[in-house]
Amino acid sequence: MDVLICTDKEQDRWHDALAGCLPEARLHVGVDAPPCDYAVLWKPPAAVFARQPRLQAMFSLGAGVNGLLAMPELPRDVPLVRMEDCGMAAQMVEYAYYVALRQFRRFRQFAAAQTEQRWAPRGFRPRAKFHIGVLGIGVLGGAVAQALAEFGFTVSGWSRSPKSLDGVHCTHGDNGLNTVLASSQLLLVFLPLTTATEGLLNRQRLSQLPAGACLANVSRGEVLDDEALLDALDRGHIEEAHLDVFRHEPLAAGHRYWSHPRVCITPHVAALTPYAIACIQVAEKIRRLQAGESITGIVDRARGY
Ligand code: NAP
Ligand code: GLV
Repeated sequence: MDVLICTDKEQDRWHDALAGCLPEARLHVGVDAPPCDYAVLWKPPAAVFARQPRLQAMFSLGAGVNGLLAMPELPRDVPLVRMEDCGMAAQMVEYAYYVALRQFRRFRQFAAAQTEQRWAPRGFRPRAKFHIGVLGIGVLGGAVAQALAEFGFTVSGWSRSPKSLDGVHCTHGDNGLNTVLASSQLLLVFLPLTTATEGLLNRQRLSQLPAGACLANVSRGEVLDDEALLDALDRGHIEEAHLDVFRHEPLAAGHRYWSHPRVCITPHVAALTPYAIACIQVAEKIRRLQAGESITGIVDRARGY
């Protein structure tokens, strides 16, 4: 069995990690590899597919597959498999705790008061009085929603299809989105980028958030209307935005987000794919496919995720 590894960076690290998990495979690295049975991909050059006529499955090294699906060269009849958790849910929970506690305990306001040498205590509020909305409650958003609910916050989630998560008020559809937006003092975005979610958080939907709400986007930049967000931040309608993902990455020098006093930027690191765990997952799935068994994580091309 031949397995191709083709990524935009650190191909040798991926090679070594997969070699340890799948010793029975012949591994090949890079765009010029001979025809293989499986491909492990992250931001590959388009030319790689022309040399791969016999692929049985392709594995994305990320949870999001919008980049691969946007490539016209991507074979349409070969199953595309995405990463499922692989240690990313725990990282997303860390990120969400940080953002939620910063907003809930008003650390931003205390930092502002400090710059003015102003002693400005605020009263106690119970966790249950802090409402958090989570858009996208799949593998990552679902783990985050449940962790925040277990911590004692009041959490609502929104998905495409009806779902049930312990401790989380789950909604779907247009009415569900309206309810979540209207009640969220903090909105966390975990949606995949698809034709249905592109531009979802537009001016009108951002205006549905309560005044002074905080927003964190860790999905893809295109889900947000940047101008509408900047306007809402300028007016103070949105108090703070935590942005990990952007329409164009790296974020361009001079972009208004860089210097906006209400924007906190991280460079697409909310959850990184850990080599070892990811390769264990890929190896297990390849072995199941080799044995004629079913696997989870196959992307539904019609849905786009
Ligand atoms: P997932 O398991 O597929 O979950 C996606 C969730 O979004 C599901 O709950 C799904 O609803 C919901 N959804 C999709 N389209 C929708 C729509 N049109 N309306 C309402 N809900 C919709 O994906 P995941 O593993 O949690 O990953 C989510 C995204 O996180 C990835 O696609 C990627 O863009 C991003 N990500 C970012 C980083 C980072 O470092 N910033 C790292 C990893 C992933 P259903 O439950 O009904 O299907
Ligand atoms: C990272 O953004 C991923 O989709 O895994």
